[in-house]
Amino acid sequence: MAEPRRKPLVSGNWKMHMTHLEAINLIQKLSYSLEAADPSYVDLSVHPPFTALRSVQTVLDADDMPMSLGAQNVHWEDKGAFTGEISPTMLAKLNVSYVIVGHSERRQLFGETDEMVAKKVAAVFAARMTPIMCVGETLDEREAGATEERVVGQLRAGTAALNPEQMAALVVAYEPIWAIGTGRNATPDDAQAVCNALRAAVLADHGEAAGARLRIQYGGSVKAANAAELLAQPDIDGALVGGASLDPGELAQIVHLARN
Ligand code: 13P
Repeated sequence: MAEPRRKPLVSGNWKMHMTHLEAINLIQKLSYSLEAADPSYVDLSVHPPFTALRSVQTVLDADDMPMSLGAQNVHWEDKGAFTGEISPTMLAKLNVSYVIVGHSERRQLFGETDEMVAKKVAAVFAARMTPIMCVGETLDEREAGATEERVVGQLRAGTAALNPEQMAALVVAYEPIWAIGTGRNATPDDAQAVCNALRAAVLADHGEAAGARLRIQYGGSVKAANAAELLAQPDIDGALVGGASLDPGELAQIVHLARN
């Protein structure tokens, strides 16, 4: 049976950068830099900080820009006494399509556990958005030969409660922690091996259709200069781009490369 074609997803994670005014400027430049045919072949999402979501949404809608709105985090409850948190419904009302969940910076700096990640993934689906669930190993884990065990463990912990339809719709981002913001990326072969192991786990746990449809992004120092080789790997279906996504020309270039 031929594998269904998976449309690549390139996502720009702006992290804690861009005021709402800078954000508008960035998406306008990004929109000019895209080619007309890009959206037919590649999905693109931008993930501004919460404070810029409304402004970016208004401009995307008004100018019918060919990219989806994304968020960087969410709480799993729908409302309540959770000072400083944002609910899935609040994001869905802003036409947010994709929500990054369990980024390694959230796990390492803000104490997010696998249990919290699982609740967030389920809550994002319940609000009819798509989670981009991040997994990744530390340098110590990689050097100890524990990479696959670590990332497959995170994947299983975050998705155990999902049904096959949700599993097929999920986006997983493999982001080796030692490659984030360091200028050091996994080799295409190493990244492919890990993404293949992630897909094999989904095939085994959730069936062939879910495994074949699941999109897996690579993230960690992706830029125009290294994106082509990474995106050419059979189990890599896009990129989660941090630093380089703050440069609209660079992000557009990565989208062009994902087309091929
Ligand atoms: P960099 O592309 O800056 O390494 O960041 C990767 C990342 O964490 C994206 O979520």
